[in-house]
Amino acid sequence: MTGVINRIPTKPMKIKTLFLFLLFLLIGCTEKMAVQPPLTSEVSLPADYRQRFIHYATIDRADGITRDIYINPEAAAALRQDGRLPENAVIVIEAYQARKDENNRFHVDTNDHLIPDHPLEMVHVMEKRASWQSADFPTANRTGEWNFGSFHFETRERYDEDLGACFNCHNATNPTDFVYTNRLLQQYIMTGKPQYFRCNLSGRIAC
Ligand code: HEC
Repeated sequence: MTGVINRIPTKPMKIKTLFLFLLFLLIGCTEKMAVQPPLTSEVSLPADYRQRFIHYATIDRADGITRDIYINPEAAAALRQDGRLPENAVIVIEAYQARKDENNRFHVDTNDHLIPDHPLEMVHVMEKRASWQSADFPTANRTGEWNFGSFHFETRERYDEDLGACFNCHNATNPTDFVYTNRLLQQYIMTGKPQYFRCNLSGRIAC
């Protein structure tokens, strides 16, 4: 008898507990959905870009950063052929802090170009593909068929930075197929000579 009496008041409690448990679960799930980590990009860093790719441009900046830019030879050949960057074009850009003297002035070589000293931590890559799927992009923004990736200069592993910023900035270059250095690339295609440009602005403000 006592067992039955004892059991009766516990019943509504159990339903309440179950209800609270489900409520917390629901809140937990919605919170998880809201703070989902950003999608990663499926762009990869071509291991052999230094040997295989074409170094088409160097840009020196007023803040003493010098950048080297490379494109895969297949894309350069297609560009030469029909004047536009093809699918599977891959462009890689690496940046170096220039060498300074004891008075903090940048060294230059005989051509008045900055001399690369130590590399910045990350290497940036953009790759053009019509077959990218939504899940391959780190953001809902699009810059034509280009996707972006960032990698550690030393380890070649993915570099943790806001890839959404790549799309936001490069979006401004829509008329040149989202490539800032398109003009230098075209000049390389015409002359076969790596192009040099000095930009008197700092950071990555477009020159
Ligand atoms: C603040 C604006 C800005 C952001 C953010 C930015 N870029 Fe750029 N990017 C530039 C500029 C400007 C250049 C041309 C080089 C120069 O002028 O120094 C460039 C050049 C490049 C190039 C060489 C091809 C080209 O467009 O000339 C690649 C590849 C590239 N960026 C990838 C990336 C990736 C990957 C990210 C994100 C991790 C990124 N960029 C974020 C402004 C930006």
